[in-house]
Amino acid sequence: MNTYKIAVIPGDGIGKEVVPAAIEVLDSIAKLDGNFKFEWTYFPWGCDYYLEHGEMMPGDGLETLKQYDQIFLGAVGMPELVPDHISLWGLLIKIRRGMKQSINVRPAKLLAGLQSPLKNPQNFDITVVRENSEGEYSDSGGRIHTGEDEIAIQNAIFTRKRTERAMRYAFELAKSSRKHVTSATKSNGLTYSMPFWDEVFNVVKKDYPEIDTSVQHIDALAAFFVMKPQAFDIIVASNLFGDILTDLGGAIMGSIGIAPAANLNIEREYPSMFEPVHGSAPDIAGLGIANPIGQIWTGKMMLDFLGHYHAGTRILTAIEKTLSSGVKTGDLGGTATLEEVKNTVINYL
Ligand code: NAD
Ligand code: IPM
Ligand code: MN
Repeated sequence: MNTYKIAVIPGDGIGKEVVPAAIEVLDSIAKLDGNFKFEWTYFPWGCDYYLEHGEMMPGDGLETLKQYDQIFLGAVGMPELVPDHISLWGLLIKIRRGMKQSINVRPAKLLAGLQSPLKNPQNFDITVVRENSEGEYSDSGGRIHTGEDEIAIQNAIFTRKRTERAMRYAFELAKSSRKHVTSATKSNGLTYSMPFWDEVFNVVKKDYPEIDTSVQHIDALAAFFVMKPQAFDIIVASNLFGDILTDLGGAIMGSIGIAPAANLNIEREYPSMFEPVHGSAPDIAGLGIANPIGQIWTGKMMLDFLGHYHAGTRILTAIEKTLSSGVKTGDLGGTATLEEVKNTVINYL
């Protein structure tokens, strides 16, 4: 029997609702499977913690997290009380970088029982591999001058090592998928970062002659997500492009409330972090109507990473049965509460 020590950070807003729901589902599948169990340790880090202590997590927070096998996180952000760049860089991005989670994997596929807003969605099944540690997300830059002449500068940093690492991960995934990798670029408008990105892609692809490739500018790619999402298999994208594309991926599935994600330390030197694509949804927080499926499916990604594929598949099947039976939250056009969706998923396990 494997026992996994998981650090749980519900965070803010609906994170506090969807995380306990997903944990119930994970505990249920552990019991049914019989080969593993979880030991959950909760950390109350987030914006409430910040308002009390002046920091999003304690100074030794990263050291504490290193003692756990994995991290299960809800969402971070209470923008009316704490500016987003403080809360996110003080917790979410700090963990992603501190734990060297350089790869963010975000699937988007049409599940049974889901109604896509697309007229003809066919059976798309996309995985976006997002570079998760640099690129457009940088603290390099600054503000100079004041008044009318004020200038804000935000530098984007692309290193060969990390660009290559994300691309290689995408090619490795493609081997066990439909053997196609699309690179999201914007080398027509950006003069340094994306021409470099293209250059690295051209080098890396030579090592994978069995994988087909294509290159799309991010603007066109966003349009193709709407017009013909079935054309894509694995997509590799920079930090910002991957971020935008994966909310769109959630939307074409039916709601960003169902989109899962995994921040991976592929070297397995530090814990990886599993958190859905969506945020803290302050507009519906505390009402018990948030969709827990994104967090539950994220739990399935954690099981996959731990090697429990069979248990993970059972969770996804239970999600599809739940959706097919019409038990859906408001974001999917239904009237069910979070509690009803969670209980239905557990019943179908
Ligand atoms: P959001 O994803 O929180 O919400 C966007 C819209 O989607 C809202 O209308 C919300 O109600 C809806 N929604 C999101 N998740 C849902 C769910 N599970 N069920 C039903 N509806 C859902 O994005 P936002 O409004 O841009 O951000 C709110 C806060 O969350 C900000 O502070 C932002 O920085 C933060 N954020 C955090 C993360 C994270 O921690 N991983 C991710 C995205 C945004
Ligand atoms: C996500 C979020 C974060 C990101 C924000 C909250 C910093 O949007 O995980 O998709 O952009 O990485
Ligand atoms: Mn995002």
